[in-house]
Amino acid sequence: MKDIYILGIESSCDETSFSIVKNGVEEISTVISSQIDIHKQYGGVVPEIASRAHIKNITFVLEECLEKAQMTTDMIDAIAVTYGPGLIGSLLVGVECAKALAFLYHKPLIPVHHIAGHIYANNLVKRLEFPLISLVISGGHTELIYMDKDYSFKKLGATLDDAVGECYDKVAKVLNLEYPGGPKIDKLAKVGEATYDLPIPLNDNSYNFSFSGLKSAVINLVHNEEQRGNIINKENLARSFQDVVIKSLTKKTMRALQEYQVKNLILAGGVSANSGIREEFEKLCQENKINYTCPSLKYATDNAAMIASAGYYAYLDGRRADLTLNATSSCNLE
Ligand code: KG4
Ligand code: ZN
Repeated sequence: MKDIYILGIESSCDETSFSIVKNGVEEISTVISSQIDIHKQYGGVVPEIASRAHIKNITFVLEECLEKAQMTTDMIDAIAVTYGPGLIGSLLVGVECAKALAFLYHKPLIPVHHIAGHIYANNLVKRLEFPLISLVISGGHTELIYMDKDYSFKKLGATLDDAVGECYDKVAKVLNLEYPGGPKIDKLAKVGEATYDLPIPLNDNSYNFSFSGLKSAVINLVHNEEQRGNIINKENLARSFQDVVIKSLTKKTMRALQEYQVKNLILAGGVSANSGIREEFEKLCQENKINYTCPSLKYATDNAAMIASAGYYAYLDGRRADLTLNATSSCNLE
């Protein structure tokens, strides 16, 4: 069979990224231009600034990606782009660029859901094996997804309020840690002890999650201690918080694997870079004889390699968009 080269484009939040992936599994070149340094002074992503930065960067990132691959646009078989969910202004920059390239070079245009991309970041580590369950944990999502074949997604449960990454970032903010706070909490938790008592959220029999109560509990705890003139032990609070997050995520995920009799677990999304979460899942999967994969650290957070990999399977599935493709801030994974 002829090799298929997919050009992936990702611009849903604050990373402008292009990647070329061969046959869904082999990364040829990837360029990620991060805006973290711009947004960190505001304590979070400012949507208007993010879309302007995408416009400024996008052609340079494309050129660099092609140069690194030593390829021209003619050599690409199809163009895959994140059309949603995400920040609408940011998404539009990637979608319009993809449409222009598809029109100019007469290439098929493939719409990719951002979460499908995060799931397929694992396909660049090891070919996905089915049936599988994916725990998607990012800044905007917390979901348990069941897949029995490529590009077929069934949602088992999701957060009812905040995403886990959002909760990490808010907890970091109250502890005066820089954006994005997830990696900083992770680092502090490594050297802390779980001395603070925090509630395990939505400890029920569903596959849903909830993180806003936990977020408020941490914020209230910090404010109360400050009012009493007590000093917060940041390492211990980070560890206490992270342990509760891990308990909530592992409990429901391991139960889903058992109930659906699934032997393959993959983590997906930016929070899957968390060392505590990785370690605990690795241990539990070993004990329960579950095949466990998580994305490489480089591709845990937003990037276009995962979009190009997902795009390949969407391409094989016959999914195509025309030049009326629009970006959308929220959409179902299907
Ligand atoms: O997947 P991603 O890049 O963007 C979304 O699609 O949302 O995820 C970004 C999120 C942020 O909330 C960030 O704080 C979190 O992932 N994150 C982490 C870690 N690295 C990134 N959270 C916890 N521990 C980490 N090591
Ligand atoms: Zn993401």
